[in-house]
Amino acid sequence: PVTKPQSTSTAVIEIDNPASVKRQLAQLFELSLRATVPDEPDVVPLVDACAVKGGVKFGDYQCNNAMGVWSKVKGKQTEFRGPPAIGQAIVNNLPPSEMIDSCSVAGPGFVNIVLSKKWIAQRVQRMLVDGIDAWAPRLPVKRALVDFSSPNIAKEMHVGHLRSTIIGDTLARMFEFSRVECVIRRNHVGDWGTQFGMLITYLFEKFTNPDDLSEAAIGDLQALYKASKVRFDSDPEFKLRAQQAVVRLQSGEIKYRKAWKQICDVSRAEFDKVYQRLGVQLEERGESFYNPYIPGVLEKLDNLGLIEESDGARVIYVEGVNIPVIAVKRDGGYNYFSTDLASLWYRLNEEKLEWIVYVTDIGQQQHFDMLFKAYRRAGWLPKDENAYPKCTHVGFGLVLGEDGKRFRTRSSEVVRLVDLLDEAKRRCRTSILERDTAKDWSEEEIEKTSEAIGYGAVKYADLKINRLTNYTFNFDQMLNDKGNTAVYLQYAHARICSIIRKSGRDIEEVKRNGKIVLDHEDERALGLHLLQFPEVFEEACTNLLPNLLCEYLYNLSEIFTKKFYSNCQVVGSSEETSRLLLCEATVIVMRHCFYLLGIEPVYRL
Ligand code: ARG
Repeated sequence: PVTKPQSTSTAVIEIDNPASVKRQLAQLFELSLRATVPDEPDVVPLVDACAVKGGVKFGDYQCNNAMGVWSKVKGKQTEFRGPPAIGQAIVNNLPPSEMIDSCSVAGPGFVNIVLSKKWIAQRVQRMLVDGIDAWAPRLPVKRALVDFSSPNIAKEMHVGHLRSTIIGDTLARMFEFSRVECVIRRNHVGDWGTQFGMLITYLFEKFTNPDDLSEAAIGDLQALYKASKVRFDSDPEFKLRAQQAVVRLQSGEIKYRKAWKQICDVSRAEFDKVYQRLGVQLEERGESFYNPYIPGVLEKLDNLGLIEESDGARVIYVEGVNIPVIAVKRDGGYNYFSTDLASLWYRLNEEKLEWIVYVTDIGQQQHFDMLFKAYRRAGWLPKDENAYPKCTHVGFGLVLGEDGKRFRTRSSEVVRLVDLLDEAKRRCRTSILERDTAKDWSEEEIEKTSEAIGYGAVKYADLKINRLTNYTFNFDQMLNDKGNTAVYLQYAHARICSIIRKSGRDIEEVKRNGKIVLDHEDERALGLHLLQFPEVFEEACTNLLPNLLCEYLYNLSEIFTKKFYSNCQVVGSSEETSRLLLCEATVIVMRHCFYLLGIEPVYRL
């Protein structure tokens, strides 16, 4: 019987990840391959963790090189009679190592590797001593920027922006853990555009005395947007004034600038409330910031011969796309693309960024594709997409409602983020109050716990899905305490914390003097899964896929609860010390995953 290795990473990123078991094994197999087929220096080791198949695993890892080597050597004069013989030779040529307990060759030459449980125990123990940062890989960039959240002022901050905020925050945290020295979390807010003409004109109509116009008087921006849109669409005279207002704003007329700034301030205060609740930090630099840079960048592109005339507009053609992208509109105005041409220029040249990641819905994929291609044509980004400086568009699917359509409220309004978060918190509060264990809790603890669980659940529901697929927003599902939800994970975490507390032992002391032993198969399974964090993280980070971390975290809780904790008594057993250390290592890794996912852990429930 043969097990198939799990999917391998598709990312082409050189990453230094010494704590990865997979990489350590690959180094050993590299040596063996060099000795086995010295004339085939191109053969690289293919090592991956084994998947469970039909409840059985034939090893912890597998080396999958024999077939490939065979296809290279078979016509040539060779001592090998077929792939199984090559597999066996690979095993025989392995240098001695403490890591490996045994290897066996199966089927057409797969090498199944069983790790030494002593080695696994030592590695987990080292992590407890050195801290989880010792498991951090190193990305080969010093300066990275994540452009995320980026709502539009005075337009609604919708669930799409929530997705961008949640995913972008996690990516920034992943970069930070990967020792990128400077990670900029950039909020590229849409604070410039024709909507302002309409809004300002409406406000001037309403407040004829400009002194009456204040942030408080502006009030609800969504209502303002709606009301002025009605005027704009129904009254041609209003529309004309609104269009003139755009020009007056752009030419810097004081009265218009002041109203613009007031609107932005009101909007910013709204956004900040959401960010604060989500615990997300962002540095705002809106579209308006780049306005002064647009003409210069366009001139440079023009000098390079990239700008062409088409139908009165100034356009750029890029590779593989028939229709050009408009850089300057027919009326001479700039658009979303012009701003991004300038902002990317600024990011590369002024901010000296090596990796720039844009987090938006997949609907904007073409926009970014054309932007990066235009830059490549200009020679401002390397031709090789994987070389640095590098730009990546991180797209995500839609958030759907129960009806399978775009997520809206019953009155088919855009769902407000604040309302969503309120609702999540309210529901968690109710279920906490129903619990006996929460009887003696202070109001503050109830509040804090409801927020941690409620907001965490919203984030996790989003992050656990491969970002490219749409997901259905469903409170009942995401707040369920069973299944793959943050609530379940929080319970699991709190339960392990309580096991440690109940032991009455000083865990720091246990860490200093205790020793991990993995004699039971479920202890071993838990230890091995803990050790796999660095390689899972690497795959999540290089492919920008946070769902891989969620999957790992969920499996960790399952292995802990269903295997280890069901079959291995902790408190009061003769293995108590070692098992407490496994509990501690589990919560450390869990909390770190929570941290990367932006979820506040709960210590008792
Ligand atoms: N404001 C845009 C929107 O809501 C997202 C901006 C993304 N960032 C960028 N540099 N274009 O769709």
